[in-house]
Amino acid sequence: MCPSCSGRLLLSVSHAEAGEILEGQLRCENCTRSFSITRGIPRFADLNQIESEKQETAENFGWQWTHFTQEDTLYADQFLGWLQPVKPEFFHDKVVLEGGCGKGRHTQLVAQWGARDVVGIDLSAAVETAYSATVNMPNAHIIQADIYNLPLAKSFDYAFSIGVLHHLPNPKGGFQSLASKVTMGGHISAWVYGAENNEWITRWVNPVREKLTSKIDQRALLQLSKIPAATVYLATKLIYGPMNRSRTGESIARHFFYNDYLKAIAPFGWREQHTIVFDHLVAPTAFYLSREEFEEWWRDINAEEVIITWHNKNSWCGFGKVTA
Ligand SMILES: C[S@@+](CC[C@H](N)C(=O)[O-])C[C@H]1O[C@@H](n2cnc3c(N)ncnc32)[C@H](O)[C@@H]1O
Ligand SMILES: [Zn+2]
Repeated sequence: MCPSCSGRLLLSVSHAEAGEILEGQLRCENCTRSFSITRGIPRFADLNQIESEKQETAENFGWQWTHFTQEDTLYADQFLGWLQPVKPEFFHDKVVLEGGCGKGRHTQLVAQWGARDVVGIDLSAAVETAYSATVNMPNAHIIQADIYNLPLAKSFDYAFSIGVLHHLPNPKGGFQSLASKVTMGGHISAWVYGAENNEWITRWVNPVREKLTSKIDQRALLQLSKIPAATVYLATKLIYGPMNRSRTGESIARHFFYNDYLKAIAPFGWREQHTIVFDHLVAPTAFYLSREEFEEWWRDINAEEVIITWHNKNSWCGFGKVTA
């Protein structure tokens, strides 16, 4: 529906191939705003018209996800870690909304796990990669839109957002916007950076990210980020990974700096670890949320049966039932 007035959208198709609309128009029958469909993606966000903070975020992540387009078999387990307690069976026949789909790695998994439909939305050029990743999946759909201004009716059984809300100017507002699209009795999940245990990031890394790494050209950051990425890579491959694989080693490593997180990313190869480090440094906006703040989000939407989990001792996973 129209993101401005909730009016019905009328579709005109200029080019379709094998049942997929590649070029066309969506026109609101109420306020006459119109939105184009280009390269198979309905475009509801005009990046030249939005606030500069969101524009910068979209620019940086757009570059990231059109550069780091690799796929990895470890994504499924990583995704389930963020979604806990949700399991693949949960998706069966559900209509699912993904807030900030990035390159579409989770959209793909949800489509494979039997969702009736999954709609991945993202503000940035990442949608181009997400579209290519899901083009052969009839139950996966990609839309370019701002999470605060969704062109969607309240019609979803489940909404989730992984690693997105903490990059918004108002994280709780983004969460509420997603929750407002879930029907009564449906569910919502979110994963966000934690404040607890990340004081070293907020104190030492954030100033560098805010003043330098999110401001410089992405190609320069790609090279510069190889230095911290190589440090992480060597530490995980030579120390944290091997130590955590033996019982004696594990009992020692559990006292090491950031062990839970570094153990979790240790199985990933160089390119994925480089992506993870780049991702942390490229974001112009990043909030680190305390358990208390995160719990308030769930209280404010009147969610029920809420389960909040402390993930890798550095972030929060939430799952709950939407009641309104
Ligand atoms: C760290 S990435 C995570 C992507 C994906 N969820 C994943 O885990 O692979 C954050 C994503 O949020 C998107 N994003 C940032 N602000 C947004 C907004 N206002 N509306 C929609 N998406 C947004 C970015 O474009 C980016 O793709
Ligand atoms: Zn309208």
